[in-house]
Amino acid sequence: MHSTVIFVLLAIVVGTSRAMPPSGRILGGEDAVSGQFTFAASVRVDHTHICGGSIIGKQQILTAAHCVVDDNNKVVSSDKVSVRVGSINQFAGGKIVSVSAITVHPSYEYILNDVAVLTLQSELEVSDKLSIIELASSAAQQPAVGTNVTVAGWGEQSSGATPYKLQSTTFTVASDAVCTNGYANHDETTFCLAHSLKQGSCTGDAGNGAVYNDVLVGISSFVVGACGSRYPDVFVNVTHFASWIESQF
Ligand SMILES: *[C@@H]1O[C@H](CO)[C@@H](O)[C@H](O)[C@H]1NC(C)=O
Ligand SMILES: *[C@@H]1O[C@H](CO)[C@@H](O)[C@H](O)[C@H]1NC(C)=O
Repeated sequence: MHSTVIFVLLAIVVGTSRAMPPSGRILGGEDAVSGQFTFAASVRVDHTHICGGSIIGKQQILTAAHCVVDDNNKVVSSDKVSVRVGSINQFAGGKIVSVSAITVHPSYEYILNDVAVLTLQSELEVSDKLSIIELASSAAQQPAVGTNVTVAGWGEQSSGATPYKLQSTTFTVASDAVCTNGYANHDETTFCLAHSLKQGSCTGDAGNGAVYNDVLVGISSFVVGACGSRYPDVFVNVTHFASWIESQF
């Protein structure tokens, strides 16, 4: 898997890394409680959490493409991939469901168009612990600059420990200028979420869903510099890809 690769000013936030531990928590987050973030999935390769994902259909999980593409630019074999859903604990509870197919966006090129849809082998059942989140498909559903957006994930925590519970944190939508300052290739396929120093996304947080007004507006893609740096974190603009994502159902 691509991970902890630093190029120009970018560092990737995927978990299956050569150099960093595969799991942990979002930096500076709070424990989620059961019944929150019921759309959140832990995406696993070889039975280990590598990334977050969001349940967007009875059989569809949305995640970041780089989570499921290896160093040779090959899509990981789907029989190695599964998700845990219906639990805030990445190690227990809920259900582990196998992935039967992985569809990476045709224009994905590390780290552009960082979108993939995982198709599950069986249909999920909605419950008080499991839900399907709606995609932000129109520009009107997008959060304005300065708005708070929530992200939850099992990525690395500042302690570097690998605790089990889903963590959530609040980010603020950054302006295009601030986003471009950290990430020169920013265009309408991405947007940035600002965080306090030593907070934000880290290893294992790629693929996490960013939620505003109960709709999915972003997919965690990468951090600029290092986890918790002064630069905002870069997210995939779900609205830009909504029709492609919906065509995978
Ligand atoms: C946005 O989030 C910050 C940090 O959690 C909080 O202090 C602030 O009150 C929030 N603003 C709104 C409008 O909810
Ligand atoms: C996200 O995509 C939508 C649809 O293409 C676009 O209207 C919007 O401006 C984009 N957002 C950003 C921050 O570029």
